[in-house]
Amino acid sequence: MCGIVGYTGPRPAVGLMLDGLRRLEYRGYDSAGLAVVEDGRIELRRAAGRIAALEQALGSERPTGTTGIAHTRWATHGAPTEINAHPHTDCGDTLALVHNGIIENASALRTALAQRGHVFRSETDTEVLVHLIEDLYARDGTLADAVAAALRQVEGTYGIAVIATREPDTIVAARHGSPLLVGIGNGENFVASDASAVLAHTRSVVYLDDGEIAVITPRDHRIIDLRSVEKAKAITHVEWDLATIERGGYAHFMLKEIMEQPESVRNTLRGRLLEEDGAVHLGGLNLSDEELLQIDRIVITGCGTSWHAGLIGEYMMEELARLPTEVEYASEFRYRNPIVDERTLVVGISQSGETADTLAALREAKRRGARTLGLVNVVGSTIAREVDGGIYLHAGPEIGVASTKAFTSQIAALALLTLQMGRLRSLSILQGRQVVRALAGLPDLVERVLARAPEIERLAGRLADASNVLYLGRGYNFPVALEGALKLKEISYVHAEGYPAAEMKHGPIALIDELMPVVFVAPQDAVYQKILSNVEEVKARGGRVIAIVTEGDTNVARLADHVIEIPETLDLLTPVLSVIPLQLLAYYIAVRRGTDVDQPRNLAKSVTVE
Ligand code: G6P
Repeated sequence: MCGIVGYTGPRPAVGLMLDGLRRLEYRGYDSAGLAVVEDGRIELRRAAGRIAALEQALGSERPTGTTGIAHTRWATHGAPTEINAHPHTDCGDTLALVHNGIIENASALRTALAQRGHVFRSETDTEVLVHLIEDLYARDGTLADAVAAALRQVEGTYGIAVIATREPDTIVAARHGSPLLVGIGNGENFVASDASAVLAHTRSVVYLDDGEIAVITPRDHRIIDLRSVEKAKAITHVEWDLATIERGGYAHFMLKEIMEQPESVRNTLRGRLLEEDGAVHLGGLNLSDEELLQIDRIVITGCGTSWHAGLIGEYMMEELARLPTEVEYASEFRYRNPIVDERTLVVGISQSGETADTLAALREAKRRGARTLGLVNVVGSTIAREVDGGIYLHAGPEIGVASTKAFTSQIAALALLTLQMGRLRSLSILQGRQVVRALAGLPDLVERVLARAPEIERLAGRLADASNVLYLGRGYNFPVALEGALKLKEISYVHAEGYPAAEMKHGPIALIDELMPVVFVAPQDAVYQKILSNVEEVKARGGRVIAIVTEGDTNVARLADHVIEIPETLDLLTPVLSVIPLQLLAYYIAVRRGTDVDQPRNLAKSVTVE
């Protein structure tokens, strides 16, 4: 999620690292920092905001040390402030560390380290790691040994880089679930989370795998495992140009973000599922169980894709938690005279956390005494700061204007909130466990859907000439139909409409002829038989049917012109799987039509005006 750059060699590290950070900046990071070893000290500079703010903090008297690490942060734990920016240092200011990822057992480690006298300066999980290494490095041994020993105690994901005054020309870097590579130069070496940060200097890289540690000096690099056993690794020659690398090798950010969904959904769920209790752990709600039990009604609000996620949340909340729930466009809610009081929970959903209407709706709700929660992706954003509590999506930066991975993470987060409310009310431990297990299995199923991308690309080829497309779904998949239509219209400029399948006969059926593709979202859920009849109705009028079905389905497949299969899961979680073929379909159609997929006309990623 965040960016790491490190350098060790004969040249001053600061300028080189700033260049590297700038290469990563396009992702919209919110704070930055660097540290170099100089005359036996760690020189640390950090700033909230973009790289330019860091440059300003550096001033004209830049540190001249030749070994250093740098970081751009996209906040996950703690607001995007200077104190929370990386690198983090230990109590004695002899170590500096940068970290991407999430340390899941940070609070347990923090308590243990505080008892041993360590003093913490930030709210981050990362700082725990640097104190842990300090603790272990205090004994004899090398920095690499101390890092290995620390990482053996850590649960979670990380890409890290560490420097120490005791070994002034060494960087120790390690990876578990967060990308990292060593860039091999001539008498100088680099470490980076992304090849684009080192490409100006070298195209020879060693990609670290999970569980590997790199020990880097100007003339040498060694790769060891967490038991300090040496490993042989191949050097890869990077062929891609810079722009391709920034997009992880994908043609567009949108495709990259679609493909990231196994990981982004996993990150939303990480550390939050309590399988034994059939419950969830949500640390940021800031509402006690007693307060949550006083809630007698939920209003979900948002705009665009986030509003669609809200509709799915409504169905979940009423089915599993038996709480009356409504979903309102934020722009409507804010100017009505909505009925909310202190027993109403108003949940704002927003990827950016900055959408003006959603923010205003939440402010209005608060003014009227409601409890407010935010389901937000961008940590420290205005909505995240102003609500009483919330659930961060942890989906990572979303650059493509058409929201994709934020949507599936929003659904996952809504399932978590539903479990929380449900287990306090009507949901049994057995029902809770069933949902928790299904959630835990979801990322692997997402991966299976993504494996069908080539098939969907071929289908897009056949649909690219359509000038209208109708999307139909029922139950949990009605909002997916809306989202599928929105994806298509926003990036390919093809007119598309989403409808609850049964409403078709009250109007849209008049549009159907042999030129009209109709996309049915028809997995085998509680309303499967019902939607089957709707498919028949379309076929009877000569429509072209494309259907998203459950693996092995034969009934819809018999009627449809094309089917795309998705794996089976609980009804409430099917949207996470069924929306993916629709995202891909829209993407490939837009590519065929030659539109600017990542920056479609007239649209903005973050709508901060009403
Ligand atoms: C814009 C974006 C959409 C997004 C909507 C709400 O219209 O283009 O992709 O769904 O805003 O944004 P939010 O950041 O509040 O989720």
